[in-house]
Amino acid sequence: MPVISAPYDFNQGDLFIDLESICGHLLYLKCEAFNFAGSIKLKAAKRMVESAERDGILGPDSVLVESSSGNLGVALGMIAASKGYRFLCVTDSRCNLSTRLLMEALGNEVHIVADQDSNGGFLGTRIEYVRALCASDDRYVWLSQYTNEGNWWAHYCTTGPEIARQFPELDVLFVGAGTTGTLMGCARYFRQWHRPVRIVAVDSVGSVAFGGEPGRRMIPGLGMSMRPPLLDESCVDEVIRVEERDTIRMCRRMARRGFLFGGSTGTVVSAATDWLARHDTRAVTAVAIAPDLGERYLDTVYQTNWLQDLYGDQVLDAADTAQADT
Ligand SMILES: Cc1ncc(COP(=O)(O)O)c(C=O)c1O
Repeated sequence: MPVISAPYDFNQGDLFIDLESICGHLLYLKCEAFNFAGSIKLKAAKRMVESAERDGILGPDSVLVESSSGNLGVALGMIAASKGYRFLCVTDSRCNLSTRLLMEALGNEVHIVADQDSNGGFLGTRIEYVRALCASDDRYVWLSQYTNEGNWWAHYCTTGPEIARQFPELDVLFVGAGTTGTLMGCARYFRQWHRPVRIVAVDSVGSVAFGGEPGRRMIPGLGMSMRPPLLDESCVDEVIRVEERDTIRMCRRMARRGFLFGGSTGTVVSAATDWLARHDTRAVTAVAIAPDLGERYLDTVYQTNWLQDLYGDQVLDAADTAQADT
């Protein structure tokens, strides 16, 4: 029986779902949402805060500031609340309402930027905003998830070994890419594993993380409107880009079977299902990572009007057909 006194001291690291009955292929999904921050970002946040404390960067007067589409903000905000730091999250209009309310409930401040950057995203604007805050007052401390080595290191020390422990015969791992902290940590961990593991990065169409044309992206979590500074492509064997329509279909397909996941999980499972359908997978052990659950997306991915306005009616019909087919 775990007994904790700080909210960041609990994280369920060994929960996997067998998705074969839903996606038609043997695929294990690692669930990263079962902690008090509700997402995989707890790992990076904890590591980055602890390193900053060790390095003497954080003091009693410090105000943590971070650019986040939501989940890292919640994780940092939770840690800040527990440790007595102030926290200001700079996010944008794509941040889910419930995520923003969550941070405010934790006593955090949330600033929302509205101007798009030259790639049609908000990241450039958010980072400029954070830089200006830091220049205005030296109490602001920006841990910078985009460049902080603690971000990928957290996954090298936790997510990678947690998967390896349950699946020592792993063949292929599907990882969604935002900052690429999860991707790089797992990829570097499995590079030194006793057998080759194929690392498949999953990105959304419209993201420029791995090159390509920028485009509209409405689902937060995956994808970047710049090249991720942490990304080392030599560690990645393959990149799959997923259309948001396919993300939505997969999210709704899983939800109809009782598994309510966030948008990035739909993206990763969609890519993995597609990959497994194109390969001979009779003896393949495949794992994908689910960064969060679906409650934070009830007013987007799971809301009929939002979907119809953005993607048209067909996206719902296709989701229901996919459900009926399985
Ligand atoms: C829901 C969700 N999925 C995926 C990711 C991407 O993880 P990473 O930043 O480690 O690439 C994030 C990052 O914030 C996220 O919030």
